[in-house]
Amino acid sequence: MSKFIINGPIKLSGEIDVKGAKNAALKIIPASILSKEKIIITNLPKIEDVKKSLDLLAYLGAKIEKRDEKTVEINPKNINQAELNPELAKKFRASVMFVGPLLARFGEVKFPHPGGCVIGAGGRPIDVFLEGFSALGAEIDAGENYYRLRAKKLTGAKFFFTKLISVTATESIMMTACLARGKTVLENCAMEPEIKSLADYLNAQGAKIKGAGTPTMEIEGVKKISAGSFAIMPDRLETGSFAIMAAATKSKIKINNCIPEHIRVLLEIFKKIGVRFEKGKNFLKIFPTKNIKPYNIKTHEYPGFPTDLQPPYTVLMTQAEGQTLVHETIFDRRLLFADSLAQMGANITVCDPHRLLVNGPTKLYGKKLTSPDLRAGIALIIAALGAFGQTEISNIEQIERGYENIVGRLKKLGADIQKIK
Ligand code: EPU
Repeated sequence: MSKFIINGPIKLSGEIDVKGAKNAALKIIPASILSKEKIIITNLPKIEDVKKSLDLLAYLGAKIEKRDEKTVEINPKNINQAELNPELAKKFRASVMFVGPLLARFGEVKFPHPGGCVIGAGGRPIDVFLEGFSALGAEIDAGENYYRLRAKKLTGAKFFFTKLISVTATESIMMTACLARGKTVLENCAMEPEIKSLADYLNAQGAKIKGAGTPTMEIEGVKKISAGSFAIMPDRLETGSFAIMAAATKSKIKINNCIPEHIRVLLEIFKKIGVRFEKGKNFLKIFPTKNIKPYNIKTHEYPGFPTDLQPPYTVLMTQAEGQTLVHETIFDRRLLFADSLAQMGANITVCDPHRLLVNGPTKLYGKKLTSPDLRAGIALIIAALGAFGQTEISNIEQIERGYENIVGRLKKLGADIQKIK
């Protein structure tokens, strides 16, 4: 088992490039199944979750050629089965993104409950996906260890996301409806930029999706979807993580290859709490701030405050002058890292599974910690960079599945971080 060893406190300086978005890559790879033509995907992040997704696609029969470090060519023509390998699928939650495209192409699909990290209670349900597939005409057979969906023909339908707004369920039903007969209207959809990017690509290849990036989408089913090239957008969660990292360590850094507009809510909060920044279309500079003000947040679907930036923001608030209420509304188990922050010296009270109070500013001290999940992991790295002494973080596979070469990139900014076996 590997670990990160971080010595602090340190001020970072220099420039960092944002990589391609994990949560866009994990959708375009399975979306390739909707077509029988070759697709070239560029700006792929080199992370574990992407590797797992490509492995799953290869298992189904797709031919995958790596063109260079960030580019793959996928030929989905010979995909000849619609059953997800349970061992591969159980390794990551985003394996569920294969279900809709396989159902659309083959009229059936068999898969296990997807695996993944610990942030959702009850194994992160897929009930919303199943409701959506069923609305399009799929029959669902839920066995002890698998689900089997079958549809002689998928038919467009009206579907309202009643239980909650889900990013991956929105994308899944959207993809499936592209090849259904007739018109589908999806209401109360998620609006994340990754959804619009996927829809724009599919539309360029013959799909007829209107309204992606808004709460209501209309999808006219088509017979065939072509393929071309898809450039993965910059990862907005990396952008936000690095911006918060700079603010929390009172550093000056420039973040390149990013779209600041995608983290608008964070930048608006920066203005309120006194974190100075300068932004261009594709860069963001963060300047050191002496006195950070507290500011309460409540996580929300896009364009609200992203749940994925809640853990880093909580670390930032340990350095703010006063009390902050952090309210996590999306996932049930995303405050698990608070205990680690408290061990480091933060003054944190967990009020209930969804809310915590941070009283700042507090000095943080290096400790031996375990990363519960990906975003908590980057939060602990941020805390460690600002903490006195040495921090050891284990379970770093959770961090590396979402952030490419985090050690090398942070070292370039002057961080004292290393990975040991
Ligand atoms: N939920 C259900 N039933 C469902 C689907 C979701 O109860 O059928 C619940 C989830 O358990 C959760 C809430 O609904 O409590 C929201 O989940 P959502 O479906 O929106 O999340 P997701 O689509 O599984 C994506 C990202 C997450 C990100 C959320 C933000 C991908 C691959 N994942 O997940 O990213 O936090 O949207 O809503 O796009 C990450 O990158 O670290 C990450 C977890």
